[in-house]
Amino acid sequence: MEEMRYLTFALGKGRLADKTLEMFERIGITCEEMKDKKTRRLIFVNEALKLRFFLAKGPDVPTYVEYGAADIGVVGKDTILEEGRNIYEVLDLQFGKCRMCICGPESAAELLQHHELIRVATKYPHIAKDYFYNKKHQTVEIIKLNGSIELAPIVGLSEVICDIVETGSTLRENGLSVLEEVCPLSARMVVNQVSMKMEQERITKLISDLKKIVNQ
Ligand code: PRP
Repeated sequence: MEEMRYLTFALGKGRLADKTLEMFERIGITCEEMKDKKTRRLIFVNEALKLRFFLAKGPDVPTYVEYGAADIGVVGKDTILEEGRNIYEVLDLQFGKCRMCICGPESAAELLQHHELIRVATKYPHIAKDYFYNKKHQTVEIIKLNGSIELAPIVGLSEVICDIVETGSTLRENGLSVLEEVCPLSARMVVNQVSMKMEQERITKLISDLKKIVNQ
C-alpha cells in the first residue's frame, strides 16, 4: 500500500493557534511538541497521524495554503477577505468572533451619509475599498496603517477608520463609536484547492469531525 503523505497545517500565530489546537485535541488530534511555549522550532509533527503543523503570521496563512505549502490553514475571516487568495473556505470555526466596522467620532456619522470625500485609515485597505466603492458607492481616500488604528481620527489623520471591533472597549476608551458594520468575522478553516481533491477523504473526515464540536 502506498504510504500516507503528511497533511500540513498552517496556523495563524497567537490566540487563534491556541484555540485551534484546543479544538483539534477534542477530536483526537494532538501535537504535544507544540505546547512547549519556549521552543524555537517552527514545524511540529504528529508521526502517528501523519500530520505536520507550523505557525505563521496570520496574513501569510492564505499564501501558504494557496501555493500548497500547507494543505489546510486556520485564519481569521478578515485576513481571508483582505488577502483574496485562491483557496477554499470550508468551515466557520465559530471562535474569535468580532466585527469589521467603520468607526469614528459621532460627528463623522453624517460624512458617511452624505457621501463626502473622506479619509479612511485601516490595516485592511482591500476590505475598506470594497466596502466604500462597491457597496456604498462612495469615493474615499484609503490610508494604510499597521496597528493602533484608533489613533488616526484622534490625531486628525483620517475622519474614520475601518477596523476590527471585539468588545468595543478600545473605541469607548478613546471616544469613538461604531458608525457602520462592514461584516461579521470569526476563525475559518481554509483548504488548498488541489489538496481538497487529492486528500478528499482525510480532509472531509476532519471537517465533519470539527463540525460536530463547533458551537459546543
Ligand atoms: C484589535 C483591533 C482593535 C482592537 C479591538 O487590535 O484593531 O484595535 O483589537 O478590540 P476591542 O473591541 O476588544 O477593544 P489589536 O489588539 O489586534 O492590535 P493593533 O491595534 O495593533 O491592530
